[in-house]
Amino acid sequence: MQYTSSILVAAASLITSVSAHGFITSPQARLAGDAMKAACGQQVYNNQASDNYGNIQGELQVTATQTDYNAAECNIWQCKGFKYADNTANVQSWTAGQVVAFKFDVKAPHTGTANISIVNTATNTIIGSPLLYYSDFADNSRTIPANETSFSITVPSDLGDTCSTAGACVVQHYWNAASIDQTYESCVDFTVGGSGSSSGSSSTAATSSTPATSPVTPTSSSAATSSVAAKAVTTPSSAVPTTLQTVVSSKAPSLTSVAAAATASPEADDDEC
Ligand SMILES: *[C@@H]1O[C@H](CO)[C@@H](O)[C@H](O)[C@H]1NC(C)=O
Ligand SMILES: *[C@@H]1O[C@H](CO)[C@@H](O)[C@H](O)[C@H]1NC(C)=O
Repeated sequence: MQYTSSILVAAASLITSVSAHGFITSPQARLAGDAMKAACGQQVYNNQASDNYGNIQGELQVTATQTDYNAAECNIWQCKGFKYADNTANVQSWTAGQVVAFKFDVKAPHTGTANISIVNTATNTIIGSPLLYYSDFADNSRTIPANETSFSITVPSDLGDTCSTAGACVVQHYWNAASIDQTYESCVDFTVGGSGSSSGSSSTAATSSTPATSPVTPTSSSAATSSVAAKAVTTPSSAVPTTLQTVVSSKAPSLTSVAAAATASPEADDDEC
C-alpha cells in the first residue's frame, strides 16, 4: 500500500491538468476575429484564435491583467465572445420547421451537461426551451453516444420575426463540464422568417440594432445581462435535476483513468524513501 500516496499525488496533478474540448464543426460556427479582438482584448483573442475549442474559464484567466478586456462588450458568456461582425459570411438561412443536421467534435471529453438552444443575442436569453438537452454529456466513463457528435434540430415555427435579421439569433451549443470548471460554447448564426427574402443583404445585416419584437422583454443593459448569464452558469442548480447521478458517474471515470495513468507513469516510482 506504499503506492497509495503517490497515486493520490499523481491523481491530483492529473485532475488539474485535464482539459476538455469541443466545438460545432457543421454548419460553420462563429470564429474569433477583429471585432472580438476589439471587445475582448488581444489575449482573449489569441487564446481562441489559436484554439477555438478552448473554454471560457481559460479565456477569463488571461483577462486578469489586461486593460483591453471590456467585459460588457466582450459578453464572454455568449458564444465565448465570438462576434457576428466577424462571421457575416457564415449566416445560415433556414425556414420554420426545417430539420437541420449538426456535427459536434468532442475532441477531449469530460463529463458534464449540454444543451443546444436558440439564443436571442440582444437579450442573451434562450428563446423558448432548449432544443436538445443532455443530462450526461461527454462522459469519460463510456463511449460517446452518436447523438452527441451528430444531431438535428427542428427550427421552431413560433419565432416570428425575432430571428429574421442576421446576428439577432444563434443556435448555441453549451457544454458545461462543472466537475473541472470548464464551459464550452459554439454558435451558429442563422436567420428564419422575415418576408421570404433570404439574409443576403449585408446592409441590413450590419445594422442589427433592435430586433423589434422579442418574446423576452429586454429589461436590462448588456452589462447586466452578461452578469446574469454568468450567474446562471455558475449556479446550475435550478435547471439540472440529475446532479447526484452526474456527480457519481463523473467521479468514477476520473479515478479509474487517473489510477491507470498513475500506474503507467514512471513518476509514480521515483519517490521511494
Ligand atoms: C442520446 O442517446 C442516449 C443513448 O445513447 C440517450 O440516453 C439520450 O437521451 C440521447 N440524448 C439526446 C439529447 O438525444
Ligand atoms: C443551457 O444553455 C444556456 C446557455 O445557452 C445556459 O445558460 C443554461 O444554463 C443551460 N441550461 C441547461 C439546463 O443546461
